[in-house]
Amino acid sequence: MSGPKPLLLHVPGEIAAFARRRGAAGRPCVVIDQLRATSTIVTALARGAKRVLAVGAVEAARAVKAERPDALLAGERLGTAPEGFDLGNSPFEYTEERVRGREIVLTTTNGTFALLACAGASSIRPASLLNLGAVARTLAGADDFVVICSGSDGKAALEDEVTAGAFLTAVGLGGHPAAAPFRAWGAGPELQARAANGRRLVGLGLAKDIVFCAQRDHFPIVPEGRIVEIRTGGGPVPAVEIFLP
Ligand code: MLT
Repeated sequence: MSGPKPLLLHVPGEIAAFARRRGAAGRPCVVIDQLRATSTIVTALARGAKRVLAVGAVEAARAVKAERPDALLAGERLGTAPEGFDLGNSPFEYTEERVRGREIVLTTTNGTFALLACAGASSIRPASLLNLGAVARTLAGADDFVVICSGSDGKAALEDEVTAGAFLTAVGLGGHPAAAPFRAWGAGPELQARAANGRRLVGLGLAKDIVFCAQRDHFPIVPEGRIVEIRTGGGPVPAVEIFLP
């Protein structure tokens, strides 16, 4: 296959190794956590949030919130908001009323770690089916880029794989081997609901999240991320600051 040869990462262990060797250095990185971190980030920014600060651990997020009392503390562990959080990780919670003009400190099980793996990248762009086309257009003509599928529970996540396939197709690489699951099955919500994360969300009564996040190009925005360090009482916390340029 001629043309661009993107690097695809599929599982959390691979992403951690990529972060350790600073594999992102100088390269555009697209981060996908279809269910639900990057879908939620896109929704929050589309609904007017000022910025999202993606951090790794729950305790780190609490420490950042302690420094920024006006921020909304948000995210999930096992799919639900940890004790004392203002918001979970469902895009339905990120209404315009709730998030307009607000800073959101977000921690999720896999997605925020995948974003943090992009230190040194020339760009960090969270993507999901909600904003796929807009992000794909920014890579027109790029011959080197990285697509990080956040995965889940130490494994590849089907919804991330088919979203990455849709993304590769949108950048003209529909014949790439990593696009095979998308070619075969598409990226519809029924398929996603049958995969592990989908079944977990259905079990939590959140099937509507799967349907919402599967809306192709619903928010045609291109969020930008940059790695920052936030000073807290417990020491510096690395974060990805995500905003609409
Ligand atoms: C993750 O980061 O693993 C997901 O956002 C999980 C979820 O939304 O429940």
